[in-house]
Amino acid sequence: MSAISIGLLGFGTVGKGVYETISKHQGRLQAIFGREVKVSAILVKNVSKHSLPDGEVLLTDNFQEIIELPKLDVVIDAIVGREPGYTYLRQAISRGCHVITANKEMFAFHGRELARLAKHNNVSLGFEATVGGGIPIIQTIKQLLNANKIERIEGILNGTSNFILTSMREENLTFEEALKIAQEKGYAEADPKNDIEGYDAFYKAVVLSELVFGKSPSQETSVREGITGITIEQIRVAASLGLKFKHVASIQKEQETISCTVKPVLTGEAHPLYRVEGVQNAVSIDADIVGNISLQGPGAGMFPTASAIVEDLIHIGKADFPAVFEEGKSEETVLEQPVWVILGDADQAELPEGFETISKVSKDAFIVKASFEAVSLLAPDLKAYQVLGYYAPAAEENKQVQPV
Ligand SMILES: NC(=O)c1ccc[n+]([C@@H]2O[C@H](COP(=O)([O-])OP(=O)(O)OC[C@H]3O[C@@H](n4cnc5c(N)ncnc54)[C@H](OP(=O)(O)O)[C@@H]3O)[C@@H](O)[C@H]2O)c1
Repeated sequence: MSAISIGLLGFGTVGKGVYETISKHQGRLQAIFGREVKVSAILVKNVSKHSLPDGEVLLTDNFQEIIELPKLDVVIDAIVGREPGYTYLRQAISRGCHVITANKEMFAFHGRELARLAKHNNVSLGFEATVGGGIPIIQTIKQLLNANKIERIEGILNGTSNFILTSMREENLTFEEALKIAQEKGYAEADPKNDIEGYDAFYKAVVLSELVFGKSPSQETSVREGITGITIEQIRVAASLGLKFKHVASIQKEQETISCTVKPVLTGEAHPLYRVEGVQNAVSIDADIVGNISLQGPGAGMFPTASAIVEDLIHIGKADFPAVFEEGKSEETVLEQPVWVILGDADQAELPEGFETISKVSKDAFIVKASFEAVSLLAPDLKAYQVLGYYAPAAEENKQVQPV
Protein backbone atom coordinates (compact mmCIF):
# COMPACT_ATOMS: atom_id res chain seq x y z
CA MET A 1 0.00 0.00 0.00
CA SER A 2 1.44 3.39 -0.90
CA ALA A 3 2.49 5.79 1.87
CA ILE A 4 0.44 8.78 3.03
CA SER A 5 2.35 11.60 1.38
CA ILE A 6 2.75 14.91 3.24
CA GLY A 7 3.92 18.27 1.93
CA LEU A 8 5.34 20.31 4.82
CA LEU A 9 5.43 24.08 4.34
CA GLY A 10 8.10 25.57 6.61
CA PHE A 11 11.05 24.00 8.38
CA GLY A 12 11.50 26.32 11.35
CA THR A 13 10.58 25.62 14.96
CA VAL A 14 7.20 24.08 14.12
CA GLY A 15 8.13 22.41 10.81
CA LYS A 16 11.13 20.65 12.36
CA GLY A 17 9.02 19.52 15.31
CA VAL A 18 6.43 18.03 12.94
CA TYR A 19 9.07 16.29 10.83
CA GLU A 20 10.75 14.76 13.89
CA THR A 21 7.47 13.74 15.49
CA ILE A 22 6.28 11.99 12.33
CA SER A 23 9.61 10.13 12.06
CA LYS A 24 9.75 9.22 15.73
CA HIS A 25 6.14 8.08 16.06
CA GLN A 26 5.90 6.28 12.73
CA GLY A 27 4.71 3.07 14.41
CA ARG A 28 1.79 4.86 16.07
CA LEU A 29 0.82 6.61 12.83
CA GLN A 30 1.08 3.42 10.81
CA ALA A 31 -1.21 1.69 13.29
CA ILE A 32 -3.79 4.39 12.60
CA PHE A 33 -3.39 4.91 8.86
CA GLY A 34 -2.61 1.30 8.06
CA ARG A 35 0.36 2.44 5.99
CA GLU A 36 3.55 4.48 6.17
CA VAL A 37 3.16 8.22 6.80
CA LYS A 38 5.91 10.11 5.00
CA VAL A 39 6.95 13.75 4.61
CA SER A 40 7.63 13.77 0.86
CA ALA A 41 8.57 17.42 0.42
CA ILE A 42 9.45 20.48 2.50
CA LEU A 43 9.06 24.10 1.46
CA VAL A 44 11.44 26.73 2.84
CA LYS A 45 12.38 30.26 1.91
CA ASN A 46 16.10 29.68 1.75
CA VAL A 47 17.13 26.16 0.72
CA SER A 48 20.84 26.72 1.39
CA LYS A 49 20.13 27.16 5.14
CA HIS A 50 18.86 23.60 5.53
CA SER A 51 20.02 20.02 5.31
CA LEU A 52 17.81 16.98 5.72
CA PRO A 53 18.68 13.59 7.18
CA ASP A 54 16.57 11.83 4.53
CA GLY A 55 17.91 12.45 1.01
CA GLU A 56 14.65 11.19 -0.51
CA VAL A 57 12.68 14.19 0.82
CA LEU A 58 12.36 17.01 -1.70
CA LEU A 59 13.57 20.30 -0.17
CA THR A 60 12.49 23.27 -2.25
CA ASP A 61 11.69 26.98 -2.25
CA ASN A 62 9.17 26.46 -5.06
CA PHE A 63 5.65 25.48 -3.94
CA GLN A 64 4.73 24.39 -7.48
CA GLU A 65 7.16 21.46 -7.16
CA ILE A 66 5.18 20.30 -4.13
CA ILE A 67 1.67 20.83 -5.41
CA GLU A 68 2.59 19.01 -8.62
CA LEU A 69 3.96 15.91 -6.86
CA PRO A 70 2.35 12.82 -8.39
CA LYS A 71 1.04 11.82 -4.94
CA LEU A 72 0.18 14.33 -2.22
CA ASP A 73 -2.41 13.59 0.49
CA VAL A 74 -1.89 16.21 3.21
CA VAL A 75 -0.36 19.70 3.21
CA ILE A 76 0.81 21.08 6.57
CA ASP A 77 1.30 24.85 6.80
CA ALA A 78 4.01 25.96 9.25
CA ILE A 79 5.14 29.15 7.54
CA VAL A 80 4.55 32.71 8.67
CA GLY A 81 2.24 35.51 7.58
CA ARG A 82 -1.07 35.73 5.73
CA GLU A 83 0.56 35.13 2.37
CA PRO A 84 1.72 33.00 0.68
CA GLY A 85 0.19 30.49 3.13
CA TYR A 86 -3.40 31.29 2.18
CA THR A 87 -2.78 30.93 -1.55
CA TYR A 88 -0.87 27.68 -1.04
CA LEU A 89 -3.59 26.13 1.12
CA ARG A 90 -6.27 27.12 -1.40
CA GLN A 91 -4.29 25.36 -4.11
CA ALA A 92 -3.81 22.30 -1.90
CA ILE A 93 -7.53 22.08 -1.08
CA SER A 94 -8.47 22.53 -4.74
CA ARG A 95 -6.19 19.61 -5.56
CA GLY A 96 -8.09 17.48 -3.02
CA CYS A 97 -5.47 17.46 -0.26
CA HIS A 98 -6.34 17.59 3.43
CA VAL A 99 -4.76 20.64 5.04
CA ILE A 100 -3.50 21.45 8.52
CA THR A 101 -2.26 24.83 9.64
CA ALA A 102 -0.41 26.35 12.60
CA ASN A 103 -0.45 29.78 10.99
CA LYS A 104 -2.81 31.75 13.26
CA GLU A 105 -2.41 35.11 11.55
CA MET A 106 -3.34 33.66 8.17
CA PHE A 107 -6.13 31.59 9.70
CA ALA A 108 -7.61 34.50 11.65
CA PHE A 109 -8.06 36.34 8.36
CA HIS A 110 -8.87 33.50 5.98
CA GLY A 111 -10.08 30.61 8.15
CA ARG A 112 -13.71 30.95 7.19
CA GLU A 113 -12.98 30.91 3.46
CA LEU A 114 -10.65 27.94 3.84
CA ALA A 115 -13.32 26.09 5.84
CA ARG A 116 -15.85 26.76 3.06
CA LEU A 117 -13.45 25.55 0.38
CA ALA A 118 -12.49 22.45 2.38
CA LYS A 119 -16.15 21.53 2.82
CA HIS A 120 -16.81 22.08 -0.86
CA ASN A 121 -13.89 19.82 -1.80
CA ASN A 122 -14.71 17.24 0.85
CA VAL A 123 -11.32 17.45 2.59
CA SER A 124 -10.39 18.05 6.22
CA LEU A 125 -9.06 21.29 7.63
CA GLY A 126 -7.10 21.05 10.89
CA PHE A 127 -6.20 24.15 12.90
CA GLU A 128 -5.62 22.87 16.45
CA ALA A 129 -2.11 24.40 16.49
CA THR A 130 -3.36 27.92 15.79
CA VAL A 131 -4.57 28.40 19.38
CA GLY A 132 -2.85 27.33 22.58
CA GLY A 133 0.01 25.28 21.07
CA GLY A 134 -0.23 21.79 22.50
CA ILE A 135 -3.45 22.30 24.48
CA PRO A 136 -6.34 20.56 22.68
CA ILE A 137 -8.59 23.62 22.76
CA ILE A 138 -10.14 23.32 19.31
CA GLN A 139 -11.14 19.68 19.63
CA THR A 140 -12.47 20.28 23.16
CA ILE A 141 -14.64 23.15 21.97
CA LYS A 142 -15.91 21.14 18.98
CA GLN A 143 -16.80 18.33 21.34
CA LEU A 144 -18.52 20.67 23.82
CA LEU A 145 -20.53 22.32 21.07
CA ASN A 146 -22.28 19.02 20.33
CA ALA A 147 -24.45 19.54 23.41
CA ASN A 148 -23.55 22.90 24.95
CA LYS A 149 -23.97 26.51 24.10
CA ILE A 150 -20.71 28.29 24.87
CA GLU A 151 -21.34 31.64 26.48
CA ARG A 152 -17.88 33.00 27.08
CA ILE A 153 -14.23 32.14 26.69
CA GLU A 154 -11.39 33.72 28.59
CA GLY A 155 -7.80 32.80 28.06
CA ILE A 156 -4.15 33.51 28.47
CA LEU A 157 -3.29 32.91 24.85
CA ASN A 158 0.23 34.27 24.65
CA GLY A 159 2.99 32.66 26.70
CA THR A 160 5.52 35.43 26.12
CA SER A 161 3.40 38.17 27.68
CA ASN A 162 2.44 35.87 30.55
CA PHE A 163 6.13 35.06 31.12
CA ILE A 164 6.96 38.78 31.25
CA LEU A 165 4.19 39.55 33.75
CA THR A 166 5.14 36.57 35.90
CA SER A 167 8.85 37.51 35.87
CA MET A 168 8.10 41.13 36.74
CA ARG A 169 6.06 40.06 39.77
CA GLU A 170 8.19 37.16 40.99
CA GLU A 171 11.64 38.63 40.27
CA ASN A 172 10.79 42.27 40.88
CA LEU A 173 11.88 43.27 37.35
CA THR A 174 10.96 46.18 35.11
CA PHE A 175 9.07 45.44 31.89
CA GLU A 176 12.26 45.99 29.83
CA GLU A 177 14.32 43.64 32.04
CA ALA A 178 11.70 40.90 31.85
CA LEU A 179 11.38 41.29 28.06
CA LYS A 180 15.15 40.96 27.68
CA ILE A 181 15.10 37.68 29.62
CA ALA A 182 12.19 36.43 27.48
CA GLN A 183 14.26 37.19 24.37
CA GLU A 184 17.38 35.52 25.80
CA LYS A 185 15.35 32.40 26.57
CA GLY A 186 13.93 32.37 23.02
CA TYR A 187 10.32 33.05 24.16
CA ALA A 188 10.15 36.46 22.51
CA GLU A 189 11.17 37.40 18.98
CA ALA A 190 13.75 40.12 18.30
CA ASP A 191 10.66 42.16 17.33
CA PRO A 192 8.28 41.24 20.15
CA LYS A 193 5.41 43.51 19.04
CA ASN A 194 3.07 40.66 18.08
CA ASP A 195 3.25 39.20 21.59
CA ILE A 196 3.47 42.21 23.90
CA GLU A 197 0.97 44.36 21.99
CA GLY A 198 -1.60 41.56 21.97
CA TYR A 199 -1.81 40.93 18.19
CA ASP A 200 -0.94 37.25 18.57
CA ALA A 201 -3.58 36.74 21.28
CA PHE A 202 -6.10 38.66 19.20
CA TYR A 203 -5.56 36.40 16.13
CA LYS A 204 -6.19 33.39 18.36
CA ALA A 205 -9.29 35.00 19.82
CA VAL A 206 -10.61 35.55 16.29
CA VAL A 207 -10.09 31.86 15.51
CA LEU A 208 -12.01 30.93 18.69
CA SER A 209 -14.78 33.39 17.90
CA GLU A 210 -15.24 31.94 14.41
CA LEU A 211 -15.32 28.45 15.84
CA VAL A 212 -17.71 29.13 18.72
CA PHE A 213 -19.98 31.85 17.36
CA GLY A 214 -19.53 31.42 13.60
CA LYS A 215 -18.27 34.94 13.10
CA SER A 216 -15.41 37.30 13.88
CA PRO A 217 -15.63 39.81 16.74
CA SER A 218 -17.14 43.18 15.90
CA GLN A 219 -14.48 45.83 15.29
CA GLU A 220 -16.52 48.50 17.13
CA THR A 221 -16.76 46.61 20.41
CA SER A 222 -13.34 44.91 20.36
CA VAL A 223 -10.27 46.10 22.22
CA ARG A 224 -6.63 45.12 21.85
CA GLU A 225 -4.25 46.49 24.45
CA GLY A 226 -0.72 45.28 25.16
CA ILE A 227 1.20 44.92 28.41
CA THR A 228 3.87 47.54 27.72
CA GLY A 229 2.20 50.05 30.06
CA ILE A 230 2.35 47.82 33.15
CA THR A 231 4.90 48.97 35.71
CA ILE A 232 6.50 47.17 38.59
CA GLU A 233 4.86 49.68 40.97
CA GLN A 234 1.40 48.71 39.66
CA ILE A 235 2.26 45.05 40.08
CA ARG A 236 3.32 45.68 43.71
CA VAL A 237 0.08 47.49 44.53
CA ALA A 238 -1.93 44.69 42.94
CA ALA A 239 0.03 42.10 44.92
CA SER A 240 -0.70 43.96 48.17
CA LEU A 241 -4.38 43.45 47.35
CA GLY A 242 -3.93 39.76 46.61
CA LEU A 243 -4.31 40.33 42.85
CA LYS A 244 -2.19 39.43 39.82
CA PHE A 245 -1.98 41.06 36.41
CA LYS A 246 -2.79 38.72 33.56
CA HIS A 247 -3.00 39.49 29.83
CA VAL A 248 -6.39 38.02 29.12
CA ALA A 249 -8.30 37.50 25.89
CA SER A 250 -12.04 37.43 26.44
CA ILE A 251 -14.64 36.54 23.82
CA GLN A 252 -18.35 36.76 24.46
CA LYS A 253 -21.66 37.19 22.72
CA GLU A 254 -24.13 39.86 23.77
CA GLN A 255 -27.32 39.69 21.77
CA GLU A 256 -25.98 39.29 18.24
CA THR A 257 -22.68 41.08 18.81
CA ILE A 258 -19.42 39.25 19.46
CA SER A 259 -16.95 41.25 21.50
CA CYS A 260 -13.33 40.42 21.97
CA THR A 261 -10.99 42.14 24.35
CA VAL A 262 -7.32 41.43 24.75
CA LYS A 263 -5.98 43.52 27.61
CA PRO A 264 -4.22 43.39 30.98
CA VAL A 265 -6.65 42.64 33.80
CA LEU A 266 -6.34 41.82 37.48
CA THR A 267 -7.28 38.37 38.66
CA GLY A 268 -8.12 37.28 42.18
CA GLU A 269 -7.35 33.93 43.73
CA ALA A 270 -10.72 32.46 42.83
CA HIS A 271 -10.26 33.07 39.10
CA PRO A 272 -9.25 30.06 36.96
CA LEU A 273 -6.41 32.03 35.29
CA TYR A 274 -4.86 33.33 38.57
CA ARG A 275 -2.36 30.48 38.90
CA VAL A 276 -1.31 30.30 35.25
CA GLU A 277 2.33 31.40 35.32
CA GLY A 278 5.34 31.68 33.03
CA VAL A 279 4.98 30.59 29.40
CA GLN A 280 1.90 28.48 30.11
CA ASN A 281 -1.36 29.16 28.25
CA ALA A 282 -4.84 28.47 29.60
CA VAL A 283 -8.41 28.73 28.49
CA SER A 284 -11.49 28.95 30.65
CA ILE A 285 -14.76 28.09 28.90
CA ASP A 286 -18.24 28.83 30.26
CA ALA A 287 -20.88 26.61 28.71
CA ASP A 288 -24.54 26.35 29.60
CA ILE A 289 -24.79 22.67 30.50
CA VAL A 290 -21.36 21.69 31.74
CA GLY A 291 -20.49 24.97 33.50
CA ASN A 292 -16.85 26.06 33.59
CA ILE A 293 -14.03 24.07 32.06
CA SER A 294 -10.39 25.15 32.23
CA LEU A 295 -7.55 23.80 30.15
CA GLN A 296 -3.91 24.65 30.76
CA GLY A 297 -0.63 23.65 29.13
CA PRO A 298 2.27 24.61 26.88
CA GLY A 299 0.99 27.25 24.46
CA ALA A 300 3.91 27.18 22.06
CA GLY A 301 7.20 25.49 21.29
CA MET A 302 8.47 22.86 18.91
CA PHE A 303 6.91 19.69 20.26
CA PRO A 304 3.71 21.03 21.89
CA THR A 305 2.81 22.62 18.55
CA ALA A 306 3.87 19.51 16.63
CA SER A 307 1.64 17.49 18.95
CA ALA A 308 -1.38 19.59 17.97
CA ILE A 309 -0.57 19.17 14.27
CA VAL A 310 -0.11 15.44 14.57
CA GLU A 311 -3.42 15.26 16.50
CA ASP A 312 -5.05 16.88 13.46
CA LEU A 313 -3.29 14.40 11.20
CA ILE A 314 -4.65 11.54 13.27
CA HIS A 315 -8.18 12.96 13.06
CA ILE A 316 -7.82 12.90 9.29
CA GLY A 317 -6.59 9.32 9.51
CA LYS A 318 -9.56 8.31 11.65
CA ALA A 319 -12.04 9.94 9.30
CA ASP A 320 -10.48 8.70 6.09
CA PHE A 321 -9.21 5.28 7.04
CA PRO A 322 -11.81 3.96 9.52
CA ALA A 323 -11.18 0.37 8.52
CA VAL A 324 -7.94 0.26 10.46
CA PHE A 325 -9.83 0.91 13.69
CA GLU A 326 -10.96 -2.65 13.95
CA GLU A 327 -10.66 -3.99 17.44
CA GLY A 328 -7.18 -4.80 18.56
CA LYS A 329 -5.48 -3.25 15.58
CA SER A 330 -4.27 -0.04 17.12
CA GLU A 331 -1.62 0.75 19.66
CA GLU A 332 -0.46 -2.45 21.20
CA THR A 333 2.82 -2.70 19.37
CA VAL A 334 3.86 0.87 20.11
CA LEU A 335 2.83 1.38 23.73
CA GLU A 336 5.74 1.87 26.11
CA GLN A 337 6.18 -0.99 28.56
CA PRO A 338 5.62 -0.03 32.21
CA VAL A 339 8.70 0.56 34.37
CA TRP A 340 9.14 -1.47 37.56
CA VAL A 341 11.46 -1.57 40.53
CA ILE A 342 12.13 -5.17 41.40
CA LEU A 343 13.22 -5.86 44.97
CA GLY A 344 15.03 -9.08 45.74
CA ASP A 345 18.43 -10.63 45.22
CA ALA A 346 19.45 -8.99 41.96
CA ASP A 347 22.50 -11.20 41.49
CA GLN A 348 20.57 -14.42 41.84
CA ALA A 349 17.34 -13.33 40.21
CA GLU A 350 16.32 -15.09 37.08
CA LEU A 351 13.93 -13.03 35.08
CA PRO A 352 11.48 -14.71 32.77
CA GLU A 353 11.39 -13.69 29.10
CA GLY A 354 10.08 -10.22 28.25
CA PHE A 355 12.07 -8.22 30.82
CA GLU A 356 14.33 -5.38 29.76
CA THR A 357 16.74 -4.45 32.53
CA ILE A 358 17.33 -0.70 32.69
CA SER A 359 19.70 -0.57 35.61
CA LYS A 360 20.82 -2.37 38.70
CA VAL A 361 20.43 0.08 41.57
CA SER A 362 21.93 -2.06 44.35
CA LYS A 363 22.40 -5.73 45.06
CA ASP A 364 18.76 -5.89 46.17
CA ALA A 365 17.06 -3.68 43.61
CA PHE A 366 16.95 -3.22 39.89
CA ILE A 367 14.81 -1.35 37.41
CA VAL A 368 13.18 -3.06 34.47
CA LYS A 369 10.66 -2.51 31.75
CA ALA A 370 8.14 -5.32 31.41
CA SER A 371 4.49 -6.02 30.71
CA PHE A 372 2.00 -6.69 33.52
CA GLU A 373 1.75 -10.25 32.30
CA ALA A 374 5.51 -10.79 32.50
CA VAL A 375 5.63 -9.35 36.02
CA SER A 376 2.86 -11.68 37.17
CA LEU A 377 5.17 -14.61 36.34
CA LEU A 378 8.00 -13.44 38.60
CA ALA A 379 9.33 -15.80 41.27
CA PRO A 380 7.56 -15.21 44.63
CA ASP A 381 10.80 -14.02 46.33
CA LEU A 382 10.95 -11.03 43.98
CA LYS A 383 8.63 -8.07 44.64
CA ALA A 384 7.73 -5.76 41.75
CA TYR A 385 6.46 -2.18 42.16
CA GLN A 386 5.33 -0.23 39.14
CA VAL A 387 6.92 3.23 38.83
CA LEU A 388 4.44 5.96 37.89
CA GLY A 389 5.39 9.35 36.50
CA TYR A 390 8.83 8.32 35.33
CA TYR A 391 10.19 7.43 31.98
CA ALA A 392 13.05 5.11 31.43
CA PRO A 393 15.74 6.05 28.95
CA ALA A 394 17.04 3.24 26.75
CA ALA A 395 19.41 1.02 28.73
CA GLU A 396 22.42 1.74 26.55
CA GLU A 397 21.97 5.53 26.70
CA ASN A 398 21.56 6.03 30.40
CA LYS A 399 21.67 3.95 33.48
CA GLN A 400 19.41 6.17 35.54
CA VAL A 401 15.67 6.56 35.70
CA GLN A 402 14.79 10.22 35.34
CA PRO A 403 11.78 12.18 36.48
CA VAL A 404 9.56 13.46 33.65
N1 LIG B 1 6.78 28.66 17.24
C1 LIG B 1 5.69 28.28 17.89
O1 LIG B 1 5.77 27.85 19.05
C2 LIG B 1 4.34 28.34 17.23
C3 LIG B 1 3.22 27.87 17.93
C4 LIG B 1 1.96 27.86 17.29
C5 LIG B 1 1.87 28.35 16.00
N2 LIG B 1 2.98 28.83 15.35
C6 LIG B 1 2.83 29.30 13.97
O2 LIG B 1 3.49 28.37 13.12
C7 LIG B 1 4.08 29.04 12.01
C8 LIG B 1 5.58 28.72 11.98
O3 LIG B 1 6.19 29.21 13.16
P1 LIG B 1 7.73 28.93 13.46
O4 LIG B 1 7.97 29.39 14.85
O5 LIG B 1 8.10 27.54 13.09
O6 LIG B 1 8.42 29.95 12.46
P2 LIG B 1 9.94 29.96 12.00
O7 LIG B 1 10.79 29.23 12.98
O8 LIG B 1 10.26 31.37 11.67
O9 LIG B 1 9.94 29.11 10.64
C9 LIG B 1 9.25 29.51 9.51
C10 LIG B 1 9.59 28.59 8.36
O10 LIG B 1 8.81 28.96 7.24
C11 LIG B 1 9.64 29.19 6.11
N3 LIG B 1 9.04 30.29 5.36
C12 LIG B 1 8.70 31.51 5.84
N4 LIG B 1 8.14 32.24 4.86
C13 LIG B 1 8.16 31.47 3.75
C14 LIG B 1 7.75 31.67 2.41
N5 LIG B 1 7.23 32.81 1.99
N6 LIG B 1 7.90 30.65 1.55
C15 LIG B 1 8.46 29.48 1.93
N7 LIG B 1 8.86 29.23 3.19
C16 LIG B 1 8.72 30.23 4.08
C17 LIG B 1 11.01 29.54 6.67
O11 LIG B 1 12.01 29.21 5.71
P3 LIG B 1 13.57 29.48 6.01
O12 LIG B 1 13.90 28.52 7.12
O13 LIG B 1 14.27 29.14 4.76
O14 LIG B 1 13.68 30.91 6.43
C18 LIG B 1 11.05 28.66 7.92
O15 LIG B 1 11.52 27.38 7.60
C19 LIG B 1 3.78 30.53 12.21
O16 LIG B 1 2.65 30.86 11.44
C20 LIG B 1 3.47 30.65 13.69
O17 LIG B 1 2.57 31.69 13.97
C21 LIG B 1 4.20 28.83 15.94
